Parts: sequence; C-alpha cells; structure tokens
Amino acid sequence: MFRIDRKLTTGDLDKALRQDVTEGLTFRPKQLPPKWFYDTHGSALFEDITQLPEYYPTRAERTILERHADEIAEVADAKTLVELGSGSGIKTRLLLAAMRRHGRLSRFVPVDVSGDFLAESAARLAEDHPDVEVHAVVCDFEKHLDLLPTGENDQPLLMAVLGSTIGNQDPRQRAVFLREIRTNLHVGDGLLLGVDLVKDPVRLVAAYDDAQGITAAFNRNVLSVINRELDADFDTMAFDHLAIWNTDEEWIEMRLRARENVHVHVGALDLEVDFTAGEEIRTEISAKFRREGLADELETAGFAPGPWWTDPDGDFALTLATAVHAPSELRYG
Ligand code: AVJ
Repeated sequence: MFRIDRKLTTGDLDKALRQDVTEGLTFRPKQLPPKWFYDTHGSALFEDITQLPEYYPTRAERTILERHADEIAEVADAKTLVELGSGSGIKTRLLLAAMRRHGRLSRFVPVDVSGDFLAESAARLAEDHPDVEVHAVVCDFEKHLDLLPTGENDQPLLMAVLGSTIGNQDPRQRAVFLREIRTNLHVGDGLLLGVDLVKDPVRLVAAYDDAQGITAAFNRNVLSVINRELDADFDTMAFDHLAIWNTDEEWIEMRLRARENVHVHVGALDLEVDFTAGEEIRTEISAKFRREGLADELETAGFAPGPWWTDPDGDFALTLATAVHAPSELRYG
C-alpha cells in the first residue's frame, strides 16, 4: 500500500528560495543553504558524487548497513520506520529488508523535500514490500517535523537520518533539530544517525574536491538553479569551486569564489548583487563527528546514546540512540 502526502507546494518552495537568496546574497559574508543544490540536475550530480573514488561516505555507510542492519533492526525493534531525507533508496532498502526479516515492521514513512524523486522511489519500495504500508511525506523536515506521523499505540518507532545529512547543520542548528526530533518521539523510540567522522584533512578535502570536477559542477549548480528559478544572470564559470577543512569547527566548507568582479541581476527579486574579485559565497558546511561529541549532543537533546557501528576503515559511523527524558534546556555555546 502506498500513499503520498504533500505538505509542501511549489509555491512554498518558491517563497523559501526567494527568502534564502535575498538574505544569503545580501549577507556578509555571502552564503546560500545547501538544500538548493538538489534540482533534477543537482540530484543526478550528487548520485555521481556518491560513486566517485574520493567520496567514501556513501560506500562506507552501505558497508556498515550490509554488515550490521540485522543487529540494528533487532536493537531498534520498531514497527514504524521514518526516514528523513530519503535519498536514492539503496541504503533504505538494506535497512527495510533487515527490519522485515526481524518481523515487526509494518509501516515506512520516507520524508523528503523533493516530491517527484520521493514519489518514484517510495512507489517502487511499496511494490517490493506489499506487506508494508508506505506513507511518503513531502515536507521540509527541518521545519515541519510535527507534520509527520508518530508511533501508533506505543508501538516503537525508529527515526533514521542517514548519509551524514545532519552534517549540513552547525552545532546550534543541530541542537534545535535534535531537540525537535526528540519532542516528536515517545520515550523508547529510536534515532538512527549516520555521520561522517573526523579524519585526515587530505582525504576530507579530496572527497569534496574530486579530480573529475563533479563536486565543482554540483557546487556551481546552485547558481544555475537561481538563474532558472529567479531569473538571474550568474555566469557560473566566473566562480571557482573551493573545499576547505575548517580545523576549529571540524567541518568542510564548500565555497564559490568570484574570479573577477562580478555583477549579477536577480530578476524575480529586483536585486542587484556585486562581487569583488576573490569574494566568496559559502554554499555548504559538512560537519565531521567524533563519538564523544555526538553523544553529548544526543544527551542534551533527550536521548541515551547507544551502539556505535563503523566501517572497517573507521571512516563513517551509524549510531542508535533512544529517546529518554525530555530535552534539557538548550546550552548555547
Ligand atoms: C548529502 C549533505 C551528506 O555533505 O557530504 C557531497 C553533500 N556535498 N559533496 C555531504 C555533498 C558535496 C553531502 N550530504
């Protein structure tokens, strides 16, 4: 059984894009949120990234699931699986299959902002798992967690945020997000997080600045999205792609740097934007984690940190936390 709930219209998305671009391009330093990378072309480029020799996270996470999905299913022992930011589905399939073997799964709720992509992959999953109720929800889960179905009759639920999606948020945003997740769970529900780990900066930078230039194209694609959706005139090749390891914050920053002075007109916003040569837009942060640090964040948000699984190289981790007490007051760094 399959159904899809659209909580987000194209009008909502357009409004959010306008707001993010207006704010981000008038802010100093300039910045754009990474969620706008993912139009059809950007999503295809991201799929290409996941296959690059330098980009290990997707493979590492898949390896962990191949080895440990049954154990995860057993510990979580959930009836409902909610997946925030359902990607192309292969990792989801490993987890779903294990949860079905475990014998308790009856409902799968994939959640994403990108409706068409979601509808397609969720419908396929529903076909392959006729005994599972697939209830896809299109929403911005950073804003609308409360619109998601919760566990029924105290039946345990597992919420999964895989692919180091949470790494796109800075610690402050994560504190809010984890707390928000906790608020929407019942005591005993599980949270499965997939996170990329701190490692040799040379490998980290290579993963975000690959030899074939796919990540550079992915990064510049956000400018093409703004050109198309907001009638702007970015010359995308007037910007260099940069990937920088921020040692203090322990995150990768992707930036676009103007090669020369650039003037851009954003038609739909009646906005003129100027870049001086060398000026940058920060387009993404991708935080890398350590076990203790993540455990602290989870505890603060009202979770008991639990098992921790890594791939053999120790590059990536999956961790399963359990919702316990109410989230404590946010500690601001
Ligand atoms: C999908 C956000 C986890 O941060 O590694 C890949 C996106 N950006 N290459 C990441 C991304 C550049 C990816 N996440």
